[in-house]
Amino acid sequence: MTTDHLAPVYAQWPVDVVDAEGVHLRTRDGRRILDLYGGHAVAALGYSHPRWRAALEKQSRALLFQSNAVPLEVRTRAATRLAHFAGQGLDTVFFANTGAEANENALKLALRITGRRKVVAIEGSFHGRTAAAGAVTWGAAKKWYGFPQAPFDVEFLPRGDMDAIARVVDTDTAAVIAEPVQGVAGAVDLGQPYLAALRARCSETCTQLILDEVQCGMGRTGFPFAASMHGIAPDMLTTAKALGAGFPCAALLMADHVAAHLKTDDLGTTFGGGPMACALIEAVVDIIESEGLLANVRRLARQIRETCIVGPVTDVQGAGFLTGLRTRRPARDVQRELLERDILAGTSADPNVVRILAPYVLEEVHVVQLRDALASLPA
Ligand SMILES: Cc1ncc(COP(=O)(O)O)c(C=O)c1O
Repeated sequence: MTTDHLAPVYAQWPVDVVDAEGVHLRTRDGRRILDLYGGHAVAALGYSHPRWRAALEKQSRALLFQSNAVPLEVRTRAATRLAHFAGQGLDTVFFANTGAEANENALKLALRITGRRKVVAIEGSFHGRTAAAGAVTWGAAKKWYGFPQAPFDVEFLPRGDMDAIARVVDTDTAAVIAEPVQGVAGAVDLGQPYLAALRARCSETCTQLILDEVQCGMGRTGFPFAASMHGIAPDMLTTAKALGAGFPCAALLMADHVAAHLKTDDLGTTFGGGPMACALIEAVVDIIESEGLLANVRRLARQIRETCIVGPVTDVQGAGFLTGLRTRRPARDVQRELLERDILAGTSADPNVVRILAPYVLEEVHVVQLRDALASLPA
């Protein structure tokens, strides 16, 4: 029995947050903490962005909710805006609620379209906690999976091993699912050559390539998606987290040849594609584009790479604001010491990587603050 009635499933940091503004959290005891983690990559626009708030208020007055049985202009606008933002021929959008749900639907479609029963994933991957998404998550079976069996056969590819691709991805494979820049693993960019090899092998074997951009997508790499950064056109792409920049939502984007298989009732959800979510998706794309935030992410990510290899940091990895600071000492200690200096960063599955998932509205002065804090820590 817990005294606060919450399921005791989360380790929690020693911060008592009461509100937030811009890129700062304010705690009950009056501290102002620079948030470089953004609630697991969600708060892409920081907090209380005036145009995000205006979109929320406007839509809440106009129409709070209607299901997908009712055609809505705001939903059509959000889908169009998102498809244009993504490019890569991903012209059809299915809205969902969470990253795991988007992946679940992508996998279901791939299995159905191909009539095959094997899915290939990459070592280190994280795709979510539902039955299908958990089945393709590296290490889940040993740690928390909980279902008696996976809903399909799963094989994992060693990360970066080009030769293994042809061996493991074959004409029995329905889908390859990959995070182009792995998040939970510690900001690991799979790299253009590896992703291009996956794309080529999927095309050769008529396998669906699903890119999971739940964490690395929606501008986080400094490009609309990591797929655009690396010039890879997937058959399906999933995204969430920064998509609503704080409003819970997710999306599955599909190429035409995938969408061609869809008919009424094949996919569905109550909350996915609700008008509030759609108004915020539209606003998020609009803000990213009109405020030049992709260029800001690229510029400041470069500044982090060029200045933050100080103190305990030996290297910087990842892409854009999915940044991994490789540390000589345990990342958990460095994270704790940064928090003592009023900077919130994350950790990852790699015990020597501090994960930075900064808001796209970050400024140079904040990178200087991070650099100075790191430089003040024992190496
Ligand atoms: C790459 C990736 N895919 C899927 C998920 C699952 O998303 P959700 O927690 O919204 O189900 C996550 C969450 O961390 C993620 O990082």
